[in-house]
Amino acid sequence: MEQALEQASRIIAAAKYTVALVGAGISVESGIPPFRGPGGLWTKLGEPAMDGYQKFIADPTAWWTERLSGQDELSEFLKTLDAAKPNAAHYALAEMEQMGLLHHVITQNIDNLHQEAGGREITEIHGNRLKLRCVACGARFLLREFKLEEIPPRCHECHGVLKTDTVLFGEPIPRDALWSCDLHTRCCDCMLLIGTSATVYPAAEFPIIAARNGARLVEVNPRETPLSEICQAVLRGPAAEVLPKLVKRLREGTGPASREEKP
Ligand code: APR
Repeated sequence: MEQALEQASRIIAAAKYTVALVGAGISVESGIPPFRGPGGLWTKLGEPAMDGYQKFIADPTAWWTERLSGQDELSEFLKTLDAAKPNAAHYALAEMEQMGLLHHVITQNIDNLHQEAGGREITEIHGNRLKLRCVACGARFLLREFKLEEIPPRCHECHGVLKTDTVLFGEPIPRDALWSCDLHTRCCDCMLLIGTSATVYPAAEFPIIAARNGARLVEVNPRETPLSEICQAVLRGPAAEVLPKLVKRLREGTGPASREEKP
C-alpha cells in the first residue's frame, strides 16, 4: 500500500487537472449499501427493469403514490440515504479540492454527501435525491419546497410534471450533467476512480476517454474492476481508510510545492 500511495500521490501532484469519478463504494462507510457485489442492493433485489422512466411517464400519479406510500421496494434503501452522513473519504476529497489538487468530482451517487462534506465542484450524473426536476423544461427545485399534497407535483416554471431529480433506469442523462461530465473528462490529465464497479454507462466510459487523451488513472477500490489493468496506480482498500492517507501524503510530501516538477 505504501508504494501505491507514493505512486498515486506523485501522479496527483504532477497533474494539472484532476477529476474524480465516484461511485457507491465511497458511501458504504456511511451506511449506504452498494448496488453490486457483496451486500449490494441489486444483488439482493435483482437488477431492476430498464423501463423505470417509461413507467413514470406513463402514469406519474401512480409512481408518486407508490413512492410516497413508503411501500415500494426501495423504501429501505431510501431510509439509509436519509440517515447517512459524510465519511472520511468525502471529507478527504473536499480537502483535496481546497488544496487545489482536485478540480472536479463526477459522482454517480444521489446521496448529496459530497456537498455535506464541503465539496463544491461537483457534477451529479445520476441526479440528487434532495431535488425534483421537470420532465418538460428540465428545471430543478429543492424537494423541501414542495408539500407533495398535489401529485404529481408541478413545475413552478412551466407547470410540467415533476419527477425526482434522480435518473431512473431507461431515462436519458440530463444534457447539462452530460455536458459537464464530458468537459471535465476531456480536460483532465489525471482521473481518480473511487468506489465504482465501472460497469454502468455512460459513466464507465469516462476513464477510457480520459486515458485515451493521455490522462493517468488512479483506482481506489477494495476489489478489482474492469479498469484496474489500465490504471497507473491502484489502492486496494476502503475509500474512508485510503483517501485520508493519500491526502496526508500529499500534504506532507508531494503537494503543490512540487509545481516545478509539473510538465
Ligand atoms: N470503498 C471503496 N470502494 C468500495 C467500498 C469501499 N468501502 N466498498 C465497495 N466498494 C466498491 C466495490 O468493490 C465496487 O467496485 O465500490 C464498487 C461499487 O460498485 P456498484 O455497486 O456497481 O456501484 P456504482 O459503480 O456506483 O454503480 C453505478 O449503477 O445501479 C446504478 O445508478 C446506480 O449509480 C449507480 C450505478
